[in-house]
Amino acid sequence: MKIAPSILSADFGNLAAAVRQVDGSGADRIHIDVMDGRFVPNLSFGPQIVSVLRKVTQLPLEVHLMVQNPENWIKPFADAGADIIMVHVESTPHIHRALALIDETGVKAGVVLNPGTSVDAVNFLLPIVQQVLVMTVDPGFSGQHFIPENLEKVDELVTIRDRNPELNYEVEVDGGVDAERIKSVEIHGADVAVAGSAIYNDKADPATNIKALKAAL
Ligand code: DX5
Ligand code: ZN
Repeated sequence: MKIAPSILSADFGNLAAAVRQVDGSGADRIHIDVMDGRFVPNLSFGPQIVSVLRKVTQLPLEVHLMVQNPENWIKPFADAGADIIMVHVESTPHIHRALALIDETGVKAGVVLNPGTSVDAVNFLLPIVQQVLVMTVDPGFSGQHFIPENLEKVDELVTIRDRNPELNYEVEVDGGVDAERIKSVEIHGADVAVAGSAIYNDKADPATNIKALKAAL
């Protein structure tokens, strides 16, 4: 299973260093949490941060948009160098348009489900995405507790993909994943796990923490 460190838990005073610390230490991509203080009760990064980090690493940069009117932000983040842009199905009445806009920019498109949203809500979108992100916390903050019931959605998404060879999305899990939880995420068939506070914390350096996550698999 791939690991995507979320820099939301890193030192905002030195994000370039935070990315360098995980690059070459087992990180498969960098997860960038974009928050607007409206869709979620927190503020974080704009496209400029993606432009800066684009110069720091060759790893894919995945942008998790937690904003209202995500349509307005797709081109700025694509131009800044994002490789994957993911939008919440709950964040716009025009989810199909948002995903089509991502596709037009040539960036991979992903759809995200909050813990309160069922797979049915994204069923009709599965043919046009390369990524489905299952939230295992309510979005807005790192360091929250994992909500295990959401793994049933991972089962469902994996089963749907197995039965429909034309579908080719990756299933990713985000929120509360640590060395204790990561094995269950893999057993349910997820392809990618996001980890924030399990990687960027005061207990050990990020490279050691990624090693511990990989060792738990
Ligand atoms: C939550 C974010 C997550 C978060 C993960 O809104 O989408 O990516 O940073 O952090 P942890 O792993 O600490 O839950
Ligand atoms: Zn995220």
